[in-house]
Amino acid sequence: MHEINSAHLELLDSKNILSNIPSVNDNLKILIQAALNGNEKSLNEFHKLLATINQDKFCLQKPLNPEHELYLDILRTQLDTAWLTSQKVRIQECLATAPEEPEAFIAWLESLLNSGYGQNHILFDYLESDATLADFEFFMTQELATEAGFDDLVAMTQVQAPHHVKLELARNYWDELGNGSLEKMHSVQLGWVAEALNIQSPEGHYQGIHWQPLALSNMMLAYASRRSYFYQSIGALGAIELTAPSRCEKVTKGLKRLGLTNCQYRYYALHAVLDIKHWQGWRDDVLRPLLAEKPKAYLPIAEGFLMRLLAGDDCFNVYASQLCNRNQPKNNSSDNLALAS
Ligand SMILES: [Fe+2]
Ligand SMILES: [Fe+2]
Repeated sequence: MHEINSAHLELLDSKNILSNIPSVNDNLKILIQAALNGNEKSLNEFHKLLATINQDKFCLQKPLNPEHELYLDILRTQLDTAWLTSQKVRIQECLATAPEEPEAFIAWLESLLNSGYGQNHILFDYLESDATLADFEFFMTQELATEAGFDDLVAMTQVQAPHHVKLELARNYWDELGNGSLEKMHSVQLGWVAEALNIQSPEGHYQGIHWQPLALSNMMLAYASRRSYFYQSIGALGAIELTAPSRCEKVTKGLKRLGLTNCQYRYYALHAVLDIKHWQGWRDDVLRPLLAEKPKAYLPIAEGFLMRLLAGDDCFNVYASQLCNRNQPKNNSSDNLALAS
């Protein structure tokens, strides 16, 4: 599969993804088509393949040979584009309601904190009040296996951003890095949660990991690493800042209830508060200047924002179907932890 030939190179000029894929590999075309048609087994294979390619692409390792790297880039672009195009259909109705006027647009984004995909999800009520340590272990294993790293996503996104926007992204990045203190780095603190819950890295090829969190992390990496998705990435990262605090607060309460120490749940307690400030900075010093400079950017920003909420909702639903139903929660309120930032 990693061999390259002239047929692969033809993909560089491809206009229509699906019609060109047979020249690479008929089986791959079948896989993509089946995944886009909603076949669960194919969705699993599709996102595990893409996550593995992303792993090869972004992790520190010995250098790939140029042909191998080129092949992976082509394949990754094909898979990302096919997936993101298919998912855009799901947000069209909501996207059409986004107002163009900047202040009305900001207010619309903030209204999604209550009405957006995945908000006030029953999963977080369950985690707060009823989840066992084993439930948290499942939940965190899914989340951590696909953790793309907010710090790296911000760093990749900020390339060539306007100066004033770059400054706010840098402030956010520096917070992620604990303002220079190792033990305050968010990724380090997330590791403490994993340690407290005895979470092991999944064996083999994302064994036991659902496709939904893989799809979420694949999407965030596509947005952050490709310059053509700059505004989508800004929207998607902003969606995390806006919506993480309420989820993190519930997770904090659940972990406290189960006896974890302040140090062990600090990652969530921190994001329950800090991301309120991060959203304000994102809104005032990233979104407003970008919209002032390029008013039409509201549309791709809204797209990224909604796509991130939807991908989160997909995760919350699959986690809840495994946890809440099985354990019959006492809390019957109707009706999502993706990455905090
Ligand atoms: Fe963070
Ligand atoms: Fe944040």
